[in-house]
Amino acid sequence: GTVVLAYSGGLDTSCILAWLKEEGYDVITYLANIGQDEDFESARKKAETLGATKVFIEDLRAEFVQDFIWPAVQANAVYEDRYLLGTAIARPCIAQRQVEIARQEGAQFVSHGATGKGNDQIRFELTCYALYPEVQVIAPWRIPKFYNRFRGRTDLMEYAQKHGIPVPVTPRAPWSMDANLMHISYESGILENPKCHAPGDLYLMTKNPEDSPNARDLLEIEFKKGLSASSMSPVDSSVIFCLCVFLRGKHGVGRIDIVENRFIGMKSRGIYETPGGTILLQAHLDIETFTMDKEVRKIKQGLGVKFSELVYNGFWYSPECDFVRQCIAKSQENVEGKVQLSVFKGQVYILGRESPKSLYNEELVSMDVQGDYDPCDASGFIRVNAVRLREHHRLQGFFNTK
Ligand code: ARG
Ligand code: SIN
Repeated sequence: GTVVLAYSGGLDTSCILAWLKEEGYDVITYLANIGQDEDFESARKKAETLGATKVFIEDLRAEFVQDFIWPAVQANAVYEDRYLLGTAIARPCIAQRQVEIARQEGAQFVSHGATGKGNDQIRFELTCYALYPEVQVIAPWRIPKFYNRFRGRTDLMEYAQKHGIPVPVTPRAPWSMDANLMHISYESGILENPKCHAPGDLYLMTKNPEDSPNARDLLEIEFKKGLSASSMSPVDSSVIFCLCVFLRGKHGVGRIDIVENRFIGMKSRGIYETPGGTILLQAHLDIETFTMDKEVRKIKQGLGVKFSELVYNGFWYSPECDFVRQCIAKSQENVEGKVQLSVFKGQVYILGRESPKSLYNEELVSMDVQGDYDPCDASGFIRVNAVRLREHHRLQGFFNTK
């Protein structure tokens, strides 16, 4: 049979490629460009040398920004109050194209190099099954025949040498990384000890705030429909996004070090830098509250939490996530306007905002003019709200004396 392998060009997936061939498969490699710093041409050559029957290198950057990053921004997507989901939203984007290629090439199999303990295996495979129900998944790190043979990096290196796989010469970072336009994540290796601090040279996307410029940068971000896909060309939105990434990187914003709960039931320690996403989250929260009805906002906030959990767990392509995305998109219809902010020493400072769709009534809220409001009404409002509290107090006294 034919298998489409999600190939990174690294040691692991190169060994998987050789091994799949050994097992009798025709292997098509697929490498998605979602903005990671990668030498795509040398990965192509490597795959060809290792006997891939076809090599796909797909530029998905515009799609990633438009169809995955912006919906996450609209949702204010954050997992467990801190993680901006930079890896989680990339997986359905990558896998969606992978199964498209598999269908087009008549391949019944797809394969990937995710481990059997993580979230990524779930995200890849749920996407594959959702979009190509008949597909069969080969996950080598869950196949005893494979993982018993490759018990560690030395086994991989040895196998690579035997099979003419170029072995990396530069010493490897003592942790695993996953990078794209939006973020870089760092996990495992020396980071598995949760009390071990990250060395300063770990961070590749952001400057240490201690060494960042002593002058702030000012930024104005304009939102239309909460930055919806339809309001902007993919190129425009990519440019805006990259600018945010750059500015935030320069000022060292968007670093977090957390312990999180994986879907599969274990806790893991991760370090993330999400420079552009962090600035957009702050700016979007601001313009959203400015333009959205209070009660709609509350419901939408709950949907954002739900969305984040679904995406983290790999259910981007599910009926419930589809429903939640549509509700969130609907909530963004009037989320537009400009937010002015500054970035400085790892922080985002909101400075002001304006919007043609603002729900803010300066006269109504002013301390200096009355507006369309009678302060006497507040007395009744407060007394009615106090009914329950007074009853609670009275009854407590009553029960306690019994
Ligand atoms: N723990 C994060 C997540 O589940 C990051 C995963 C990183 N993946 C990787 N292949 N290094 O989204
Ligand atoms: C992996 O296990 O392959 C990376 C970590 C994760 O998926 O959570």
